[in-house]
Amino acid sequence: MPSLTTEAEQFEKIRTKVFVNSEAAVRELGSAIGAFIRQRQAENRRAVLGLATGSTPVRLYQELIRLHRDGLSFQNVITFNLDEYYGLPPDHPESYRHFMEVQLFRHIDLPPAQAHVPNGLIERNQVFEYCANYEAQIAEAGGIDIQIVGIGRTGHIGFNEPGSSLDSRTRLVALDRLTRRDAARDFRGEANVPAYALTMGIGTILEARQIRLLAWGESKALVLRSAIEGPETTAVPASFLQRHSDCRCYLDHAAGSELTRFRTPWKVGPVKWDPGLTRKAVTWLAETREKPVLRLRDEDYTENALASLLVETGSAYSLNIRIFNELQHTITGWPGGKPNADDTNRPVPAEPPFKRVIILSPEPLDAEIGMAGTIHRLVNQQHEVTLAYLTSGNLSVPDSEARMAFSLLNELGVSKPDSLAHLDQLAAETNRKAPFDEDSRELRQFKGLIRRAEARASCQILGLALDRVRFLDLPFYQRGRYRQFRWGSEDVKSVVNLMCSLEPHQVYVTGVGADPSSVPGIAYQLVSAALENCGKEPWFPNCQFWVYASNERPWPPHEIDMAIPLSPAELAIKLDCLYHHRSQRSQTPFTETQAGEGWQQAEQINRATARQYDLLGLAEYEAVESFRAQKGGRNR
Ligand code: F6R
Repeated sequence: MPSLTTEAEQFEKIRTKVFVNSEAAVRELGSAIGAFIRQRQAENRRAVLGLATGSTPVRLYQELIRLHRDGLSFQNVITFNLDEYYGLPPDHPESYRHFMEVQLFRHIDLPPAQAHVPNGLIERNQVFEYCANYEAQIAEAGGIDIQIVGIGRTGHIGFNEPGSSLDSRTRLVALDRLTRRDAARDFRGEANVPAYALTMGIGTILEARQIRLLAWGESKALVLRSAIEGPETTAVPASFLQRHSDCRCYLDHAAGSELTRFRTPWKVGPVKWDPGLTRKAVTWLAETREKPVLRLRDEDYTENALASLLVETGSAYSLNIRIFNELQHTITGWPGGKPNADDTNRPVPAEPPFKRVIILSPEPLDAEIGMAGTIHRLVNQQHEVTLAYLTSGNLSVPDSEARMAFSLLNELGVSKPDSLAHLDQLAAETNRKAPFDEDSRELRQFKGLIRRAEARASCQILGLALDRVRFLDLPFYQRGRYRQFRWGSEDVKSVVNLMCSLEPHQVYVTGVGADPSSVPGIAYQLVSAALENCGKEPWFPNCQFWVYASNERPWPPHEIDMAIPLSPAELAIKLDCLYHHRSQRSQTPFTETQAGEGWQQAEQINRATARQYDLLGLAEYEAVESFRAQKGGRNR
């Protein structure tokens, strides 16, 4: 186990650094890798890098490419990739070989013969020998100096799924259900995701001299806590990294948020109590003691490392009341403000009584999942609501949905809608291409129309007039594919134009804490850039910015600044709205215990949030949608 650096990190069994964002993390790691390669060049030696694929290392590779453009040569570098999907040819758009070519290899001067990625097409009866040979090649190169790894939500490293043993070697493995589900978008449906992969083993990975694990986004936070702070277990293969003498984790804030030092910092040392941390501590205590806030006693605090909080506030009694009131004040049935009411303790001002509201949805369905009930209320309470879909979401429409639409249009005798190639040709394309081949531009456009139709139908259920539904079709999405999007000034301009034309009093966004290369993550970055550009606009200081939740996890009450309760009838409307995004249903059921469909998850999350409020001693609602105030404009 590495020597512990600070008291705050005492629970962490892998040395971990948490950065403000992934940019900062990859800059530090990129520069360390660059320095290592240069040092080896000076010694006339080779540098052997172990590489990973997936969303996580994309930014690191961009940083290495930047360093190369600034003069770093990779001539003395040898690389070995962790894994490859079994059955995919190297030029398949989703193969890891192809990924590496596009993301790194073709942009640097690494000699092609020095780049190794397992061959996914190796005959079944030769797999054993091939894998042994892959290991022999690593040994021949002198072993891996620096191994980059990401982590899957199952806790896998490489494709070593739960159950993989500590001494496992390079081999053929079956992919876990959750892993295949996470890859479903890349392959246009889970059914198309290969079932097997070749992967280095845990034993192979642990032989690297240095291991650097990268992770971004809140979806990784829980599994990282298990891997970094939990026991070593085959149930979380990444936990085996604890036994490596030079393993480090590079995390962004969202990925590190479940570590003890952030989740319950009072357990690891003295803390400076501010209002946010106090609320977090009291709600945590109530949950831990399974008591409503108003029933917490002094001894509950003192027995749970929270004595210092009592010293600052006097007694449990006054603190409990203060936090109870704070929580109470987050709840409102008036997301646009309650006209003519005293708004001193309300999250939204009463004035103006009728507000202009913009809701930004990264893809169709995101806003509906996060806030359909709230949209319904805003519309009913007469606010001028505009729902803007930033992207068409056409990449996630399976061919089968397109075929259904072709069949309908054929029945109607529609053969040439404007700006689309002949329908028969598009239909033929869906029949001809392999399910995971890329769609032509026209087919993508057609699939985008399907999502528009679904979005309109779902908006109508919420009472939104169709002329208030905007499809921005931002160029970054139209040009790109999942994990490979690059956004730019045109995208930002489009959002700025929307804002400036509507001069909103409220803007709702999502994607804080999302993987930065995901569509919500990118949407959040570019909306933030757009808001910065709007800072001098006259409407800006009077505008409130709210972040709505995704399906990732229920937000704990201390993170919620506005809670909109849904009645049973409103929840039913929300679900009805969500069902209309039928192209987004998964093709196969998930597990018995975990609901797989987006609408089932949304329902579970909204119900779970209501339950949390109830357990804290607040009113008992059917479901609750949650929002965080974003700094800027009216929120200071
Ligand atoms: C990829 C690999 C996997 C990924 C992991 C995280 O070569 O070995 O273990 O690192 O699945 O994937 P992303 O980065 O896409 O979240």
